[in-house]
Amino acid sequence: MIEQKRELVTEIPGPESLARLNRKKAYVADGVGTMLPVFVTAAGGGVLVDVDGNSLIDLGSGIAVTTVGNSAPAVVRNVQAQVEAFTHTCFMITPYDAYVDVCEQLAELTPGDHAKKTALFNSGAEAVENAVKIARVATGRDAVAVFDHAYHGRTNLTMAMTAKNMPYKQGFGPFAGEVYRAPMSYPLRDGLSGEEAAARAIDHLDKQVGAGNLACVAIEPILGEGGFVVPAPGFLPALSRWCTDHGIVFVADEIQSGFCRTGDWFACDDEGVIPDLITTAKGMAGGLPLSAVTGRADLMDSVHAGGLGGTYGGNPVACAAALGAIEEMRTHDLTGRARAIGAMMTERLENLRGEHPVIADIRGRGAMMAIELCAPGTTEPDAARTAAVSAACHRAGVVTLTCGTWGNVFRFLPPLSIGDDLLHEAFDVVTEAFATTGG
Ligand SMILES: Cc1ncc(COP(=O)(O)O)c(C=O)c1O
Repeated sequence: MIEQKRELVTEIPGPESLARLNRKKAYVADGVGTMLPVFVTAAGGGVLVDVDGNSLIDLGSGIAVTTVGNSAPAVVRNVQAQVEAFTHTCFMITPYDAYVDVCEQLAELTPGDHAKKTALFNSGAEAVENAVKIARVATGRDAVAVFDHAYHGRTNLTMAMTAKNMPYKQGFGPFAGEVYRAPMSYPLRDGLSGEEAAARAIDHLDKQVGAGNLACVAIEPILGEGGFVVPAPGFLPALSRWCTDHGIVFVADEIQSGFCRTGDWFACDDEGVIPDLITTAKGMAGGLPLSAVTGRADLMDSVHAGGLGGTYGGNPVACAAALGAIEEMRTHDLTGRARAIGAMMTERLENLRGEHPVIADIRGRGAMMAIELCAPGTTEPDAARTAAVSAACHRAGVVTLTCGTWGNVFRFLPPLSIGDDLLHEAFDVVTEAFATTGG
C-alpha cells in the first residue's frame, strides 16, 4: 500500500503534469475534459500520487468507482490470476464461471428474495439502455418515465433520459423518443413530503403519458450527477407501488449509489423498496468496466435468445475484479464502514454549515454526502463560490467533485479504504477552503 499522506512538493498541477497536459491537448479530443489535470502514477487507500511526486487525498473515488479502494488486494489477486488464465472468449460464444458467479452474487445481494437473473454489460449507460429494452419487451409498451435532474448516461437513449443539457446533450440530438420527464422529489426546493411529491409525479405521468403506455419508470434512488438529492421519505415506496399497480417496470438506477456506498448494499434497501430491475456498475468491479441489469427472472427472461449481450459484456477480467471487490466488501464490512464515514462527514459538514450560511443543504447517505451552496437564506444557486472552494481544495491537494443541475453542489465520495485521519485532514482542507474564499 502506498504511503497514506497528503504531501505537495510542487504546485497543483506540477510541471510534469503540465507537460503531459500539452500532450493531451495534442492527441486527445477536446471533448474529453479533465477536471484536475494531475497525471496519476499510483493510487490506493485514500490517496492518489502524481507524476510530480505529489500525494493527494481522494474524495471522489473516480466518480464512485473505487469504493473498495484502488488496487484492492482481492481485486488485484483475482485480476492477475484471470489475465494469466485467459482474457476473453466472449460469453456469447463460449462461457466461463466468473460471469455466472457475478450473476449469482447479484441475485443474492440486490433487494428482494424473489427469483432474479442478470445480464452483464460494460458501462452504466449500456446497462440502463438494456433495462429499457427488457422493460419494453416484457410489457409490450414504449414509454419511459424519468425525472428532473436525472443522469443516466451519454449514449443516444440515455442522453434522452438525462436531464441536463450542458455538457451532456448540447448539439447531440435528435434524441430517442418516448422518454417523458416527471418532477423529482427535491426537499430543499419543493418542501413536499414524499407522498405529496409522489402524487405530483404520478399525476404528471398519468395525465401526460398514461400509466397504460409506460414500459418503465427509471429513477436513481439518490440522484447522482443531478446533485445527490435524497427524495423525501415515502417518495420511492409510493412510486414503486404505483408501478406495481399498473404493470409498469420499476427500474432503480443504482449505478452510483449501489455496492455499499450509502451504508447499505443498495440505496433502495433504506426504505425496503424492491425494484423490478436494478442497474449497477461503478463500485461493483473495483475500477474495471462492468455493468449489470438484474431483476425479476420473469422480466429478464422475456427477451428472446440473442437479444441481450455484446462482445465484451461480462469480460472475464472484469468479472474476476467484481468477485474480488465483492469479497472486499463482505470481508471488511464496507456497508458499516460507509455508515461510519458518513457519520464523520456529516459532523464535519454540520460544523461547516454553522460558520457558512452559503451551505443551504447537507444531504446524502453513508459515504455519499453532498452540500448545496446557495445565496444565504435563499435557494439561489451559488456556482461561483462552489467553483472557488473546489479550486482551493484542488490547490491544497484534495480531490473534490462538484455536481448538480446548477453546478452548485459538492459531492463527497471517498473510497471506503480511506483512514479516519486522512478523511479528517481532507475536511480540514475543505474547511480552510471555505474560510479563504470569503462569504
Ligand atoms: C446513476 C447513473 N446512471 C448511469 C451512469 C452512466 O454510467 P457510465 O458512465 O458508466 O456509462 C452514471 C454515471 O455517472 C450514473 O451515475
